[in-house]
Amino acid sequence: MRPIPLVDVKAQYEPLLPRIREAIEGVLESAEFILGPNVAAFEGEAADYLGVRETIGVANGTDAIVLVLDALGIGPGDEVICPAFTFYATAEAIARRGATPVFADVDAATMNLDADDVAARVTARTKAILAVHLFGRPAPMNELMQLGVPVIEDAAQAFGSPGVAQLGDISTFSFFPTKNLFCIGDGGLVALNDDELAERVRMLAFHGSRDKTDFQFVGYNSRLDELQAAFLRLFLQHLDEWTRGRREAAARYAELGLGDLVELPVDEPGHVYHLFVCRSPERDAIRDALRESEIASATYYTTPLHLQPALRFLGWEPGSLPETERAAQENFSVPLWPGMDPAVQERVVDVVRSAVGVSV
Ligand SMILES: Cc1ncc(COP(=O)(O)O)c(C=O)c1O
Repeated sequence: MRPIPLVDVKAQYEPLLPRIREAIEGVLESAEFILGPNVAAFEGEAADYLGVRETIGVANGTDAIVLVLDALGIGPGDEVICPAFTFYATAEAIARRGATPVFADVDAATMNLDADDVAARVTARTKAILAVHLFGRPAPMNELMQLGVPVIEDAAQAFGSPGVAQLGDISTFSFFPTKNLFCIGDGGLVALNDDELAERVRMLAFHGSRDKTDFQFVGYNSRLDELQAAFLRLFLQHLDEWTRGRREAAARYAELGLGDLVELPVDEPGHVYHLFVCRSPERDAIRDALRESEIASATYYTTPLHLQPALRFLGWEPGSLPETERAAQENFSVPLWPGMDPAVQERVVDVVRSAVGVSV
């Protein structure tokens, strides 16, 4: 039997190869590689899709967060509340600005920020909440927006979720090649409705300048390039169909009875299943069985951010974020991509069933 990967990005873009080649030809023909027509067009199309006034293409999702924090004037002495159960870049961006990441615990059922715990950590120094839509599931935006602090959505894992970028003050996205909307390399985006702030982000991403002659701020060189923008314009047209495919595959795991064996991610209409992350106290045995059957699986944030070596200077101890630490020990994902063969999903469920010792 063929090995089963965790995601199959190639299966997603393979039917589009002729159009991808056309896009490459078009960029080569134009000989405009930086800040050309595809970037401008993609920014407009992404803004329409997300329902925001402005988007700014940047080099990656990490830079998108750093640029936003910088544009908001967040730096040393300021606190930003974020989860510790997320990719490192979330807190890294805060620390990179010289500000202090303040970790809040996650909700046991959703693994997203626990809004009550966030509320308890707001101080006079809190300048923003950085909420992650983890694994494609929207964070509790309504609750977070009531805390009187600007909310930045780290939506790296949730492009295409209805409502994302609608409630928060600013959102950031990554187009890393496994993301729901991806490019064939690195890419990122900032989305917002505040024209003045958007202009500041745009300038910061371009050396603090509008024209590369007059330099207003000490900025960055962080741009989405033309080729990636050309791919993104094409892939954006297929995003809703891919999201439907992800949601169908997620529903099929439930139909196949995976929920009788492990804890499944609770469904909700906005969940776009960037990853299909389950939980089980027996996850190591399950992963061993999957590995033996050549089925890929993964675990996420097994050392949560408050316990990472680089952030030890913040002084967090093991046990200080109990739900985060439990999620770190129990989570694992099984293969999921749009259009995956149901027979592959049956094979996954059969192996998990044998691993947890349940007979059919
Ligand atoms: C939650 C989260 N934030 C930020 C990032 C950073 O994005 P990038 O890898 O494009 O810098 C990622 C993805 O890798 C992510 O998953």
